[in-house]
Amino acid sequence: MHREDFLMLDSDIVYFDNGATTLKPKCVVEAMDKYYTVHTSNIHRGDYDAAIVTNRLYDETRDIVKEFINCNNSSEVVFTSGATMSINMVVFGYMKKHLKKDDEVLLTKSEHASNVLPWMKLSEEIGIVIKYIDLDDDYSFTVENVRKSISDKTKVISIAHVTNVIGDVRDIYTIGKICREKNILFCVDGAQSVPHMKVDFKAANIDFLSFSGHKMLGPTGVGVLVGREELLNDMEPLFYGGGMNSYFEADNSYELKKTPTKFEAGTPPIAEVIGLGEAIKYLMKIGMDKVHQYEKELKKYLISELEKIPNLILYNKNSDCGILAFNIEGVFAQETSIYLNHYHICVRAGNHCTKMLKDNLGVKNTVRVSMYLYNNKDDIDRLIDVLKNSKDIFKVVL
Ligand code: ALA
Repeated sequence: MHREDFLMLDSDIVYFDNGATTLKPKCVVEAMDKYYTVHTSNIHRGDYDAAIVTNRLYDETRDIVKEFINCNNSSEVVFTSGATMSINMVVFGYMKKHLKKDDEVLLTKSEHASNVLPWMKLSEEIGIVIKYIDLDDDYSFTVENVRKSISDKTKVISIAHVTNVIGDVRDIYTIGKICREKNILFCVDGAQSVPHMKVDFKAANIDFLSFSGHKMLGPTGVGVLVGREELLNDMEPLFYGGGMNSYFEADNSYELKKTPTKFEAGTPPIAEVIGLGEAIKYLMKIGMDKVHQYEKELKKYLISELEKIPNLILYNKNSDCGILAFNIEGVFAQETSIYLNHYHICVRAGNHCTKMLKDNLGVKNTVRVSMYLYNNKDDIDRLIDVLKNSKDIFKVVL
């Protein structure tokens, strides 16, 4: 869909690395270009015309995110540098203040590094205990597995909505309900789901939701933390400086502004926030249900074609999104991606920053195809043709 909006597709590439970052439509690039060429100014500081335009666009993006994600109000939307920063803010700004030694946090072994390492660091600092929800044979887990992992000490469940290698779509709506009933904080890493399907913050009873702009047609350097307002009010900023304080005096007294401003010290990524607003408007115009449905159909077609090739190992045929992890038997994943690059097909190979998944998957590295709304069956046919000839792989790679 809408391939004409993506200038990168004018070159002869098949772009299948959308889990890492997505292409940007013209409207996003143009909005950012306009900021740099027509109304460059800082925000919330100037009274001149350009600054008034910039303020409006920056603040409107908060309303756009609110509508897109269905949180209670725009002040629950904090702009960050990306999902990684959002999760770190939650762990070190909120959890460090509210958790204590022996409190349990539930994760899974298929989480991305950004939803594991901050918790490990917190464990080192204050003695929280990290437990991992069991994964089933297909590397996903059921709500029953979650129930079995919960103890009296469980204070937080922090999981990706969609994982970045297996692409399993977790039932955040049921898990959120369980969390609310049991008074457990529910943190959702939406980096791989928010770009691809409708995510409803309120309906899923989410306490903190993190996602990145660049994985959803927006620019790099901007992301979002959506948090319930009462929690954000009780969360410490990690950065202090201009824009986020009401006053400070020589006697060390100071007062911070209210959320979300208290979390946005210094000059924020203004062009990027404006670009993110455009990206979300673009996605909303298409409709997230349509995006998700389209990607599921592409995945179905991809699987049906890949299954005709004998020497492939497919790890996640059944996951309900556009991510597929595979290997060619006897070939190192990186060699496969170099081989595909020879035919201008862009995929990611490696452990995808999900280093514990090997305990279940049995291999460290996979090749990942991750699709988005501008991919089509022709892209898949090109991939299939090249993989069918992969007996020649070492002639090409070496
Ligand atoms: N988290 C990104 C990925 O999965 C970079 O590729």
